[in-house]
Amino acid sequence: MPSQRAARSPLGELFRSARERLREAGVPDPALEAEALICHALGIDPVQLWTNDGPVPASRRRRLEAQLLRRLRREPLPYIRGWAEFFGRRFDVDQRVLIPRPETEHLVEIALEWERATFSKVQESGHPFRVADIGTGSGILAITLALELPRVQARAVDISREALYVARKNARRHSVTQRVKFHHGNLTGPLRGRFEVVLANLPYIKTARLSRLEPELSNEPRLALDGGGDGLEQVRPLIQSLPGYLAVPGLALLEIDPPIARRALAIAIAAFGAGAARVESDLSGLARVLVIESQ
Ligand SMILES: C[S@@+](CC[C@H](N)C(=O)[O-])C[C@H]1O[C@@H](n2cnc3c(N)ncnc32)[C@H](O)[C@@H]1O
Repeated sequence: MPSQRAARSPLGELFRSARERLREAGVPDPALEAEALICHALGIDPVQLWTNDGPVPASRRRRLEAQLLRRLRREPLPYIRGWAEFFGRRFDVDQRVLIPRPETEHLVEIALEWERATFSKVQESGHPFRVADIGTGSGILAITLALELPRVQARAVDISREALYVARKNARRHSVTQRVKFHHGNLTGPLRGRFEVVLANLPYIKTARLSRLEPELSNEPRLALDGGGDGLEQVRPLIQSLPGYLAVPGLALLEIDPPIARRALAIAIAAFGAGAARVESDLSGLARVLVIESQ
């Protein structure tokens, strides 16, 4: 809690005004958003926000105002500050890529658990652990697995050349360019060989639902969100191609959402047989990951 003195300081005034304007614009969590925007625009941390009662230079106020106006137009905060956090690390993001979502971390957790339980036992040490990331966007999934597991050799594909530009930048930022290679193309089209793990967070929102979702989504690439009339336009052909790409033992993880879960599971069972596929829920109990295991 800020002290009364801090709340009356120039920074405290800026915070209150930003919070009220965000609230009036209908931005969720206006206090958190105001704090994050001020800290970013003024180059301070939250402790300084509540302890520093000195004046705020005019140039910094102008910068804050410009960024606040962008947020009031419902541009998401990660685009304004140019980065987002995923699995405890920072990744560059801009309007060419989807902003990483916390629920996508579940794919990384399942892959790491599977590696510990299965792959590390059956493979000689030093054998590469081949990972494919389909629809890589900012590169978060391939890069995170490469950072978590030194044996990972990853191939990441995206149909958007613009997204791949951001993904390559993130691979350089995290020094994994030797172990994560990027390919432009459709789904598994550019890949050769088999992979111990295939990860995919492809667009899965039904086209008709897109316009009903929160305004922030209109800033993100449509190519990253639009799953076509039934939400399965990209997911279906990927699942159907997987028998030709998954190693044995192998694991495929596809991020999904409840409206497509039942049909995605049926497509996976048709391709791999009952017992090889299941759906896992996220922390809110919503169907979130299609899991396919080949053994
Ligand atoms: C929902 S975003 C996910 C980005 C990132 N993997 C993440 O989890 O934040 C989907 C990505 O898939 C890409 N994409 C869409 N259709 C594709 C296709 N047919 N083949 C390859 N990539 C595709 C989009 O360009 C976008 O970058």
